[in-house]
Amino acid sequence: MLQEKSRAQNHTKPYSEQHIGTTHLHRQYRTDLRQLSEKDYNKFVTLNTVRDWSQLSWSNVGKPYEVEASAKERLEWEATNSRDMDPHTSWTLFNKSFHEWFIKDVPKEIGNSKHHFLKSLRTFKPAEVKQALGEVIQLQLWNYIHRVQDGIWDPRGKRALFEGLHLTRPRILFLGAAEGYEAMQLGAMYPGAEIVMVDYDEYCKTTRFKDFPDSYPFLGENPRTGHPAVYYKDDLNIEYVVEDIRNLDFNKEFDIVLSVGLLEHFPDEYKHEVADWHRRFLKPGGYAIMTTPRNQVRSRLYYRIMADVMNHTYRELMTVEQMGLYMYENGFDILRHGYIKVHNGLVCQPR
Ligand SMILES: C[S@@+](CC[C@H](N)C(=O)[O-])C[C@H]1O[C@@H](n2cnc3c(N)ncnc32)[C@H](O)[C@@H]1O
Repeated sequence: MLQEKSRAQNHTKPYSEQHIGTTHLHRQYRTDLRQLSEKDYNKFVTLNTVRDWSQLSWSNVGKPYEVEASAKERLEWEATNSRDMDPHTSWTLFNKSFHEWFIKDVPKEIGNSKHHFLKSLRTFKPAEVKQALGEVIQLQLWNYIHRVQDGIWDPRGKRALFEGLHLTRPRILFLGAAEGYEAMQLGAMYPGAEIVMVDYDEYCKTTRFKDFPDSYPFLGENPRTGHPAVYYKDDLNIEYVVEDIRNLDFNKEFDIVLSVGLLEHFPDEYKHEVADWHRRFLKPGGYAIMTTPRNQVRSRLYYRIMADVMNHTYRELMTVEQMGLYMYENGFDILRHGYIKVHNGLVCQPR
């Protein structure tokens, strides 16, 4: 009986402290329990390049790059409805589309797509060949960026950004939480955390978060010993609220307010409102932590190739200087800033 229980546990929680330092490639994603060596740190993490934020201005740093290619689904919706797609509908379509990629058995799908492509060549129909080739390229790109490089979750980069905040049992609010990955990583690093995830797309709670693999290990800390420890989704204290951020009525009760990929979806006239969301629910001395996608050639290419998967909403790619300046001029001090694999990151506090 006991043996059966421990076998079942090994199946749902396959990693433990003995696996710290290892990384494993699964069919849908990579797990990574490696701590950053100094060499890797220097390769993947660049922190604190700006000395004095008061010296930056928009004429120095320029404005973000706006991603123009739209998802076909959005264009078709707008043609049918004769109006621009509203943000809530855009997010609903985005979340569904993005989630379908996270659950792909990537090696199997790559095999299928190659087979499909070869078959399309025999039809001599350029449109079919083009579509089949597009699928091969998208899958190869997803395989490389998400599964092999782990660029989207990037646990080592995120840990480098989140570490050293000296918080005990923090309350964490995740705005626009989607599947909730980064709050879970933070929760593992700051044990005893109470996490509140908020997203107004119900599918994020009922599918993206619910189906996030129970067997995915987060590297964190054992509060008793201070040594590294492995946590899973169900070890963490998480409440998921389906609500518009604008309707939240929390007090200033959170030690950390977090967002990942939120600020860049709002044109400049709304940036102050997004900054305010990060201030409104923070305890005095609390931290706002944010990341946004970097403006780099490979990211521009990614959003072009993956347009049908990703581009349902307004989106900018920015530099960390631009991101920091938005927050600085909206009343935040920037405590830590930098870039990791594909995102910029900030840790800041209201002035
Ligand atoms: C780009 S996603 C975050 C990126 C995420 N890591 C992912 O994998 O999709 C932004 C999330 O914010 C949510 N969101 C946007 N505006 C919101 C609002 N006003 N209230 C609540 N959630 C919002 C969207 O539904 C979406 O799930």
